[in-house]
Amino acid sequence: MAPAHVAIIMDGNGRWAKARGLPRVMGHRAGVEALRQVVRDAPGLGIEWLTVYAFSSENWARPQGEVADLMGLLKLFIRRDLAELHRNGVRIRIIGERTALAPDIRALLDDAEVLTAGNRSLNLVIAFNYGAREEITRTLRHLATEVAAGRLAPEAIDEALISRSLDTAGMPDPDLVIRTSGEMRLSNFLTWQCAYSELVFLPVLWPDFSKTHLEDALASFAGRERRYGGRPAAREAAS
Ligand code: FPP
Repeated sequence: MAPAHVAIIMDGNGRWAKARGLPRVMGHRAGVEALRQVVRDAPGLGIEWLTVYAFSSENWARPQGEVADLMGLLKLFIRRDLAELHRNGVRIRIIGERTALAPDIRALLDDAEVLTAGNRSLNLVIAFNYGAREEITRTLRHLATEVAAGRLAPEAIDEALISRSLDTAGMPDPDLVIRTSGEMRLSNFLTWQCAYSELVFLPVLWPDFSKTHLEDALASFAGRERRYGGRPAAREAAS
């Protein structure tokens, strides 16, 4: 069965550009092109939720010029693609810490979410200024504030409440996480939500990612046995 929720760590833009003697921004631009194509392909492959890691809380440490390029690309992506995404029934959601973003970017993100709120063909979740530890910290601080104000009993804090309080409230956990470029780590991406996700690491650099790579990852997922800490279904039935 196809995974309902696929999350992608789009890695390797810099190496792609370097291999061609191009500035890094060209790698990121090519990365946006690859993203556009995946968004078009996803619904036909049975994917209902697609989450992409576009800018991490740690990416601020990059040179100022590169940070500005990534901010500019997000703006361009929303401005240029919003009409097509909306026409194709894509619902846009943003996760991450928004207050640190420039007001014009925040307004664009807010508008994109409002405009597409009723769409159903694909949920596109853009993780922007996102870091799992920051998200969990911010969420726990909020819950602690509620407890201190007497609005929440400590005993009421359970896994379901934490899930409902994260940026991903109401979204299913990712079934499959794909990371490109051969690196094999999660880099602070959806740590809580990926507790039982299947992981696929592909050696392709993100700008070269195509439908075939996505299909390969889905085939790998289809061969996995998900146990969530339990026992394999066949052995369970036999004993
Ligand atoms: C990692 O490549 C990629 C990023 C830090 C950003 C991902 C961004 C995009 C694909 C484009 C932006 C998309 C939107 C919607 C704005 P890297 O630079 O770390 O590559 P490297 O590891 O080869 O240096």
